[in-house]
Amino acid sequence: MNSDAASKPILQLQDVTVSFDGFKALDGLNFRMNYGELRFVIGPNGAGKTTLLDVLTGKTRPQRGVVIFDGRVNVTKTPEHELARQGIARKFQTPTIFPSLTVYENLEVSSGFREGVIGLIRRPSRERWEQIEEVLHLVRLKSRAFVQAGVLAHGEKQWLEIAMLLMQKPKLLLLDEPVAGMTRAERNRTGELLQAISGHCSVLVVEHDMEFVRNFAGQVTVLHLGRRLTQGSVTQIQTDPRVIEVYIGRSHVSAAIR
Ligand SMILES: Nc1ncnc2c1ncn2[C@@H]1O[C@H](COP(=O)(O)OP(=O)(O)O)[C@@H](O)[C@H]1O
Ligand SMILES: [Mg+2]
Repeated sequence: MNSDAASKPILQLQDVTVSFDGFKALDGLNFRMNYGELRFVIGPNGAGKTTLLDVLTGKTRPQRGVVIFDGRVNVTKTPEHELARQGIARKFQTPTIFPSLTVYENLEVSSGFREGVIGLIRRPSRERWEQIEEVLHLVRLKSRAFVQAGVLAHGEKQWLEIAMLLMQKPKLLLLDEPVAGMTRAERNRTGELLQAISGHCSVLVVEHDMEFVRNFAGQVTVLHLGRRLTQGSVTQIQTDPRVIEVYIGRSHVSAAIR
């Protein structure tokens, strides 16, 4: 990636508003992230984090505002499947893996999907084998390659799903609370994994777990009431009185964000 690409935004949102029966889940949101970035978006419950991801995948259409992906794709005017084809991949909380297939076969199938029916029935090419190896290495599941996906641990299943998305060579990977339900060891490994992936594509993580954010985030955007409250490094946002206010305003979470 050249330095020019690194400073250009992969994603640019201007004045994005999403209303549900008059209630604004996103309220004039402005947001921007660059190629190769690992960005965390945090905020109290109801801040609009999931709605933001829904807008980016075309699931929800804003009433107002502009969303430009990769410098040219007009997201709010593009069908969901086309956004996926253009390189926006989303990981859901419940993994959509095939439990009776091995880890390796799951990756074969997901790369086949990208090539259509022909890809599914054709013998895997050398190039595809190499891509599977590379992705397995990245998510550190090489030793589990020939294990049935159904018997994997919770964390391993999540990593397999991330691997399946990576087979489609996305430009932007979206994750909604990826460490929910994980052990501490699994969380740490997921954090390392996200950092490694951001060398290959841009990664946008919506997260609730402040300890995870503290350990692995670089740039953090804080959403509150559908707007961008602030943005900065972990250290900056942890000491920002407005952030402390919206977290403590509701409970005693001050300890949780320090
Ligand atoms: N489909 C919907 N219909 C009505 N209200 C919704 C819908 N989706 C989200 N909301 C509301 O929008 C607000 C933001 O929701 P959400 O984006 O899920 O927040 P977060 O993920 O930050 O917790 C919440 O108050 C939620 O109740
Ligand atoms: Mg949410």
